[in-house]
Amino acid sequence: MNSETILTGVFGHPVAHSMSPLMHNLAFEELGLNMRYAAFDVEPERLQDAVNGIRALNFRGVNVTIPHKVKIMDYLDELDEEAKEIGAVNTVVNDRGKLIGYNTDGRGYIASLVKETGTLLQGQRVLVIGAGGAARAIVVSLARSGVERIWVANRTLEKAEALAAAAAHHTEVDAVSSDRVRDLAAEATILINATSVGMHPHTEETPIDASLLHASLVVSDLVYNPLKTKLLLDAEKAGAQTHGGLGMLIHQGALAFQYWTGEEAPVDLMQKTVLSRLERVRKT
Ligand code: ATR
Repeated sequence: MNSETILTGVFGHPVAHSMSPLMHNLAFEELGLNMRYAAFDVEPERLQDAVNGIRALNFRGVNVTIPHKVKIMDYLDELDEEAKEIGAVNTVVNDRGKLIGYNTDGRGYIASLVKETGTLLQGQRVLVIGAGGAARAIVVSLARSGVERIWVANRTLEKAEALAAAAAHHTEVDAVSSDRVRDLAAEATILINATSVGMHPHTEETPIDASLLHASLVVSDLVYNPLKTKLLLDAEKAGAQTHGGLGMLIHQGALAFQYWTGEEAPVDLMQKTVLSRLERVRKT
């Protein structure tokens, strides 16, 4: 670092286990950019001060994670259309003092799905289980990307209804109760778990009965701890194509990196490094 180093980082609370510093610093180094990325643990009541710090210290931008993704929208100068529809920001760009909020989670998810499975989005019928923050980003971005239709199933139906309403002007999006998953799995071409079901330490759990999975589905799980969830193992046994959650983490970061630097991020290198860090952490 020197007097010309441009700073970026992530605001979260807690933020100690974030993989983002590792992958962004590696990417800056790989591209020979004089930029650095740090993790900032920002208490919710200090968020506005922290945002003013981006301006005062001339950071190029930040990522935003739990619990600040919604609240930060109040403190920015401009919001991208997609971020407004998602109702959350995960990336801030400092454009010469003007702070613009984006959300790269949904597009990062799609980039990873397309890259890893070769799936084209046109004509797909997508069943999403879950209606929390991650589901919101994915459903809005998928609806904007030309899929034929989306069903959102959630334990709490009202949350699925609110999400469907936010995305329904782009394509057909319906909220359904969890008991409809049984019939809809047969009609869907892509099934996505956007709940935390199956996440460590509850690795024996799955959001859908294995008997409902079939070979013409692409089965995608946002959970990346473990890398292969019970859902993905069941899907493999059923002959379905599978897609894990790690790619979304990498590609949402890659899109933020592109906003800040104007350069394409070295995604394969980022993914390889995060993967080996995760494997090391799990062994200890
Ligand atoms: P994230 O930011 O990861 O999306 P979130 O906003 O807390 O986290 O959302 C968690 C999602 O997982 C929700 O859809 C939640 O369902 P509810 O809206 O009914 O709470 C879902 N979820 C969590 N645990 C679940 C469980 N045991 N069974 C079914 N759904 C579950």
